[in-house]
Amino acid sequence: MSKYKIDKILFEEKEITKRINELAKQIESDYSSSDEIVCICVLRGGIMFFSDLIKRINKKIKFDFIRISSYEGTSSKGEAKIIQDTLLEIKNKDILIVEDIIDTGKTMNTLISLFKKRGAKSVKTAALLDKPSRRKVECHADYVGFEIDDVFVVGYGMDVDDNFRNLSFVAVIQ
Ligand code: IMP
Ligand code: MG
Repeated sequence: MSKYKIDKILFEEKEITKRINELAKQIESDYSSSDEIVCICVLRGGIMFFSDLIKRINKKIKFDFIRISSYEGTSSKGEAKIIQDTLLEIKNKDILIVEDIIDTGKTMNTLISLFKKRGAKSVKTAALLDKPSRRKVECHADYVGFEIDDVFVVGYGMDVDDNFRNLSFVAVIQ
């Protein structure tokens, strides 16, 4: 049992789907001169946004997963650490990193540097949610679903101590 409870719904599934459709169209047009995108899902929180996004992008796509950890409960432990790495070729590829949420920016920054270091042709980022007021390192996402205030959210892949990931909506906890 989680000690946390759902406080209120921030984004209903319908609203999320509508926004993801817009992002997918934007990505499709931005990558019109690229023959293939390698989309990297940041596990585990990115999974729902990732699968909903990539199936709406009408382009050749390969996908892979990376798992990185920096959180425990509702606070950042600090440096992001890679727990599970990608297997696909990265060199000379157009990489799109897909995350659930950008908070301090450390995770996304770590991943951007990692794929650049591995010789990606381009590295772009997509996040369903962005909390710009929480930034500790400079980090700009190319595609953002919604900007939110400094609140802890769950659902649609996101968790608190591994709870609430399967919710079809995004909610604030209390
Ligand atoms: P950052 O490295 O501080 O930007 O943290 C990003 C990661 O922290 C995200 O991928 C999430 O897994 C987690 N995170 C940050 N804020 C929240 C939240 O409000 N709810 C659930 N997970 C969060
Ligand atoms: Mg995450």
